[in-house]
Amino acid sequence: MCGIAGVVGKSNDDVVKKVIERLEKLEYRGYDSAGVAVVSNGQIERLRAVGKLRNLKAKLEQNPLSGSVGIGHTRWATHGKPTENNAHPIVSENLAIVHNGIIENYKELKFELQKDGFIFETETDTEVIAHLLQREINRGLSSRKSFENVLKVIEGSYAIAAIFSSLPNTIIAARQKSPLAVGFGDNMCVGSDVSSILPCSEVVYLEDGEYVEITEDNALFFNKNFQQVKPKKQKISIDLENTDKGEYSHYMLKEIMEQSSTIRKTILHNKIDKNIFEGVSRILILACGTSHHAGMVAKYWFEKFLKIPTDVEIASEYRYRSPIIGENVLAIAITQSGETIDTLEATEYVRRYNNSKVVAIANVKNSAISRISDVTFYTEAGIEIGVASTKAFTAQLTILAELAFHNYDFLTREFQNLPTLCEETLDLQNEIKDLAKRICSASSAIYLGRGSLYPIAMEGALKLKEISYIHAEGFAAGEMKHGPIALIDDDTPVICLCPHNELFEKTSSNIQVALARGKNVIIFTDSDGSKFLPPETTKIVLPKIPEEFAPILYVIPLQLLAYYAASLRGTDVDKPRNLAKSVTVE
Ligand code: M6R
Repeated sequence: MCGIAGVVGKSNDDVVKKVIERLEKLEYRGYDSAGVAVVSNGQIERLRAVGKLRNLKAKLEQNPLSGSVGIGHTRWATHGKPTENNAHPIVSENLAIVHNGIIENYKELKFELQKDGFIFETETDTEVIAHLLQREINRGLSSRKSFENVLKVIEGSYAIAAIFSSLPNTIIAARQKSPLAVGFGDNMCVGSDVSSILPCSEVVYLEDGEYVEITEDNALFFNKNFQQVKPKKQKISIDLENTDKGEYSHYMLKEIMEQSSTIRKTILHNKIDKNIFEGVSRILILACGTSHHAGMVAKYWFEKFLKIPTDVEIASEYRYRSPIIGENVLAIAITQSGETIDTLEATEYVRRYNNSKVVAIANVKNSAISRISDVTFYTEAGIEIGVASTKAFTAQLTILAELAFHNYDFLTREFQNLPTLCEETLDLQNEIKDLAKRICSASSAIYLGRGSLYPIAMEGALKLKEISYIHAEGFAAGEMKHGPIALIDDDTPVICLCPHNELFEKTSSNIQVALARGKNVIIFTDSDGSKFLPPETTKIVLPKIPEEFAPILYVIPLQLLAYYAASLRGTDVDKPRNLAKSVTVE
């Protein structure tokens, strides 16, 4: 996480303004603090502020900075509290750096630097990089040689950009497991993603171990052996999508309401190659968070319709437990950002030890996952700005459903109606807004579902907890009696997913059991189901849908419920506390 941006200015450029504009695109990566540093008349100057970028901007209005080259940072704190003192850029005597990632051997390095007389002013792991660089410079080495020597000793993950008081037109930057893009355009620049180097026309994505020296009109690239290499420049071809909130009060609501169209686009754009599962005897899904929930749904679908055993792994756990990968495995990595380090590392692990074929399902085009996968299916959800994933999730499910049902013509035909059913479900918006009043003051909520709606119960709970801060858990409805039932009382909303499907009787018995212990039972069902459910429960009636597609439809009211509950509680829905959209640290 953390966003980094750097711009080499040309005469009369307002470098600080350009850095801030780029940081605005990167705030999704963290918003614990923000800062900017420049080289100005042979000096490093910097300004930092706790919290969102707007706080830094307000400070800059009072204390303007100007310079010939600048770097900036928006932080998601790992080491050290989100204070101004720990905010980046971090300065050592004659230089400043910004960093995204974690320096794993920082304690040893800090000890060594302290012995050499360096005084540490922050609690960050990053400060060792600044002082290591300064130590090399003090030894009389050039900035580039100093940088190389530092890269030799730091371990962990990093994207770093550094400026030096002696170099008014230079940024030196490096990457190891954290993304970094170098932009060629009116200004040479670096950024954590391609949106943060716009309006550049060409980009070079640094590879692991590479570093770059960027000057006013040029950039020299070096590989991990520090030999100069020819960069692989690519034309930037991202759609400058409409990133306006429009009529909506939050991006999250806009993104929820877009879902019938994003599902439609995803269906249209992806044609499944029927040979993809040929010879596959096992499917291995790797993902985190909401994407992991999409994988859990896919397990139900793949085993039922493809008849291929499927395992779904939490990517952060996978490679640390000596997994048995097996033969003829198809790995599927699911990730909205395409950047989640846990998912990337788990995928690399499978590649390294098994040479399995890897299919990625990603939303962000050209993201890192596509570079380590054989095939990438892109969800056509468009840019997702709200930190809580909504439209990307239903688009992931859409692709997974297409993979699962591609041999079943009747399902494929029915699938075409899904966007219309989503529209009808979104029309329940006002009913759900009212319902949110019933849960917004709860301290805890329980979500129940069976079969492929069990992961949707988990997803509903995740949405509620991440944006409203109400503690919520999703359980398999049949599992409730094995422990979670102890949590139910009159004040605990029990939110059940109970369409009239083949598990209806079982789920409605679980609902009776919950109702015997609490009175706030809310059920999402369909017209047939509502006839048979207890009258003293609150029922929201969704359109009738083939059982197979229910997960895609039933998550939508849960997203709305979480959204309205969080809005009533007045939280920062699009940027909930402690979270970041793209999780690039382990
Ligand atoms: O970009 P990814 O899909 O790999 O991200 C995985 C999770 O970090 C993400 O889904 C997270 O759980 C979201 N905050 C959920 O809303």
